[in-house]
Amino acid sequence: MSPFNGSANGNGHSPTGSPLVVAEMVKEKIAILKREREAVILAHNYQEGAIQDVADFVGDSLGLARKAKATDAKIILFCGVHFMAETAAMLCPNKTVLMPDLAAGCSLADMIIPEQVRAWRVRHPDGVVVCYINTSAVVKAECDYCVTSTNGVKVLEHIPAEKEILFVPDYYLGSFLKAKTRRKIHLWKGYCPAHAAILPEQVDRLREEHPEAEFLMHPECGCTTKQMDLADQILSTEGMVQHVARSPAREFIIATETGLLNRLRTQHPDKTFYPASEHATCHHMQRNTIEKVFMSLVKLQHVVTVDPQVAKQAIVPIQRMLEIV
Ligand code: 13P
Repeated sequence: MSPFNGSANGNGHSPTGSPLVVAEMVKEKIAILKREREAVILAHNYQEGAIQDVADFVGDSLGLARKAKATDAKIILFCGVHFMAETAAMLCPNKTVLMPDLAAGCSLADMIIPEQVRAWRVRHPDGVVVCYINTSAVVKAECDYCVTSTNGVKVLEHIPAEKEILFVPDYYLGSFLKAKTRRKIHLWKGYCPAHAAILPEQVDRLREEHPEAEFLMHPECGCTTKQMDLADQILSTEGMVQHVARSPAREFIIATETGLLNRLRTQHPDKTFYPASEHATCHHMQRNTIEKVFMSLVKLQHVVTVDPQVAKQAIVPIQRMLEIV
């Protein structure tokens, strides 16, 4: 049964109005609860439009981490995936961090565990371990530096040139950084299944069909090196949002999770966006729904915590990154 007064009649329609009216009612209730709870809602660019509408801030992993750190709200309701909420919990140890659905994980983050980082370090004792922010807190606790899709090059510039780098877990972001920095980087072979759904031949076809379109690609993209060379820009999700706002182009091929297109289309109704693949969807992100956001604020669920011993170590690579960029 729906928790929303007047909305539950079994067919998804409200006795008092259409589903659209119900959706607006839910958003109003969330706004009231948010004030009562002294909560802030942070949402990732991939979240559905209804969630982005009620969020106080929508952004990429780096932007969200910074907002979490800066907020004076008592509660952070994090609409994203688990590693993002864990990062917020470590940056804000005195705040309550909630997620609408604790099962919203990250398949890429799950591709490495702490024991594997330790074993890799044994084989490269002088290596510096750099982790993508898409890692669990227990993995971050084994690493030296953290990066996001926005700041990898800048962070790597702070690591002495003679040091070899062990990069976990995303092979494609690591390859991009390797090409950009020409550093000796060993790559873990993890990947994001949503980005891997974007196939080079689909991109080739779209580029042929829309020769005027700019091709924007996320560095996690499981495309070949050839696609990396062809991309007009390789950017984080927020980098894409900013680039589209600046660009005179009218059409864009977007190679990342399809959720981002909602934000782009809302902000630029005059521009046209083609997803590089309709199948590039993150099922974890989609676990979060507007109803679960509401229930999170009603019940103050689901609290995300990190073991204090783990947090003490895992915060180190995160703080190093935030000091650099
Ligand atoms: P961004 O930091 O670019 O938003 O990417 C986060 C992410 O998890 C992509 O899959």
